[in-house]
Amino acid sequence: MRSSFAVAFAAALGYVQATELLDRNLAYRSPFLDVPDFSHDTRAIQARHIELAKRQTVDASGFSDDHYPTFYGGDFSNAPFLWSGGVNFTHSVASGDPDDSSILLWTRAVPIASSSGTVPDQSVPVCVSFKIFDNQKLSGRPVDSGEAFTSYDVDFTLKVEATGLKPDTKYWFQFADCINPTTVSPVGATRTLSHPDTPADQVNGGKPLTLAVFSCSQFQAGYFNAYGVAAHNTSADVFVHLGDYIYESLGSGAKIGRQVLGRELATIFDYRQRLNQYRTDVSLRTAHETGPWITVWVCIALSDDHEVADQSWKAGTANSNDSTTGCKFSASGACFTDRKMAGVRAYHEWMPIRQVAVDDKLRIWRNFQIGKLLDLTMLDTRQYDRDITDLYYNTVIQSISGFNNRSLMGAAQEQWFSQTLDQSKKRGAVWRIVGQQIVFIQLNETALLGGFDVDAWDGYKANRQRILDHLYANKVSNTLILSGDSHANWVSDLAHPNDTTTYDPVSGKGAIGVEFAGTAVTSGSPFGSLSSTDADAVSSLLTGINPDLQWSEGHFRGFFTLTIDPHNVKATYYAMRNISNANLDSFASAVFNVKAGENKLSRPVAGGNVTAGALKGKAVPSASAIIASIVSSVTAAEAESATATAAASSAAATAASSFANSVVSGTSIVASSSTAA
Ligand SMILES: [Fe+2]
Repeated sequence: MRSSFAVAFAAALGYVQATELLDRNLAYRSPFLDVPDFSHDTRAIQARHIELAKRQTVDASGFSDDHYPTFYGGDFSNAPFLWSGGVNFTHSVASGDPDDSSILLWTRAVPIASSSGTVPDQSVPVCVSFKIFDNQKLSGRPVDSGEAFTSYDVDFTLKVEATGLKPDTKYWFQFADCINPTTVSPVGATRTLSHPDTPADQVNGGKPLTLAVFSCSQFQAGYFNAYGVAAHNTSADVFVHLGDYIYESLGSGAKIGRQVLGRELATIFDYRQRLNQYRTDVSLRTAHETGPWITVWVCIALSDDHEVADQSWKAGTANSNDSTTGCKFSASGACFTDRKMAGVRAYHEWMPIRQVAVDDKLRIWRNFQIGKLLDLTMLDTRQYDRDITDLYYNTVIQSISGFNNRSLMGAAQEQWFSQTLDQSKKRGAVWRIVGQQIVFIQLNETALLGGFDVDAWDGYKANRQRILDHLYANKVSNTLILSGDSHANWVSDLAHPNDTTTYDPVSGKGAIGVEFAGTAVTSGSPFGSLSSTDADAVSSLLTGINPDLQWSEGHFRGFFTLTIDPHNVKATYYAMRNISNANLDSFASAVFNVKAGENKLSRPVAGGNVTAGALKGKAVPSASAIIASIVSSVTAAEAESATATAAASSAAATAASSFANSVVSGTSIVASSSTAA
């Protein structure tokens, strides 16, 4: 005989198709709705829940889930339908991709196992509510609120869009367990941005807007103190991440107690586990609680290239592609396409990032019009449509780096970028700030790498030239390019490579913009383990031989901020003194200004004085031990690289020796930079 519940349920099935509570959680679209394997069919998940409810025969009196007694139109008062055993907000909260009226809010709500250790029934959906307020005490009526489901399908992540918000306004938000509302998440702070039409001098209430810019945070390499310093010691309004938010590799963090779990990432489980572990870092969690994030990926569209895997391009990475060999790179046997799908999916589950175009090749490039003050244009120079890069073994890239038909951005993105720059100028935005992954200027790193980094824009010279041509030809001024990936600091005027006719490196005359490339949060320096003094000597050499490069610093890990107003952008570089434990010990290593309309670093660059690194033409302290140090450090750094070939190590050591010999032979670093001045 059918129970009354079953009768009621069967009746409900005929007309109930509501999936709103599932659909409201954007993680189910991870990352792209309507693309097979890249999103979840929430109707199928709902059907699974209903099937589960139909099977329920236990007495529900012990459960307090009468919050939704009639959800899906059925009478579930006699069956446990929603998870009611309590949840843990395991990774606090986060927010991201704000505009003038909405923002994404993120949390993770994991069912708690019973005291007897019984694992929760993973098929039961977890209901999470959210509220967002315009005051820190969370008092009065919330500006927006709602409920949504999460489940194991999305690793219990929850991503909702709060809407109906006011522009340029600070908000505070919190999640709760729908069933046990006293169980709440930590409170997160966030903010909206200006309406695109807001006059430049009224953006952010007339106060300068500050971006904190990061890249390359490797868990096993150090504690993420840079995030903590930005959250605690700066007035950052928005946190921008340019890639390598996670790393797929293992490496050894034993000496600082930061070993990563699992294996080299390949499957959805692997990527989720890694993101989970990274977000246990206190500083990272605090930074996510403090303000909204805007991110791009590197590897497989994650920000740099390690969100998926090292040295990635559109159809492969250094150690995986879809060939028979490429699919065997790890014990999982995952081919590149599977790996990419897993990496992208987990990234969209765990990061408060919006979908951009569901039908456009994992597109994440997007533009933020922040009043008439600036356009923040985020590019994907890694995964979207990049032609083959340096995979360590394919040395041909050096020789084809100048080919006209090589593209870093892909035709669609490149065209969009040019149009976005033009539109930004046309609409009267003062600044064009371009967030992207890799170093843009030509950078001769012979002393470090044995040549140029052809995994950066130096491997795609024609694409770079087209961008510079566009800026010059269309008189697009006030463009600042932000870069990560390199694990060192490089600040430069933007000009055509080696063009010291149009461009004067001393005065900056003839430049068309500025590049601010930032060092890593923790990842190892290309300078190896040089002392700060020795690293500064190398920097002095590099600023001497690279016309556009005005400041180089390769010793400290850190980040930088951009403080933007209609007349000036101030860039402050922060250096971490110690990343082997959690602390906030940092100092400003250099401060730069760019005045609106000048299209170059203001002179004297950095006010003529920095506390680390080397300015072009400025002498650095003598480094007596540098010769032996460079050879051993560069060689050791190369040896540490899991993917570097023996040949590459040898080339680097040779280059270092050659550089060292030049120092021995009397071409002293200090002398050469003084000459450059
Ligand atoms: Fe990196």
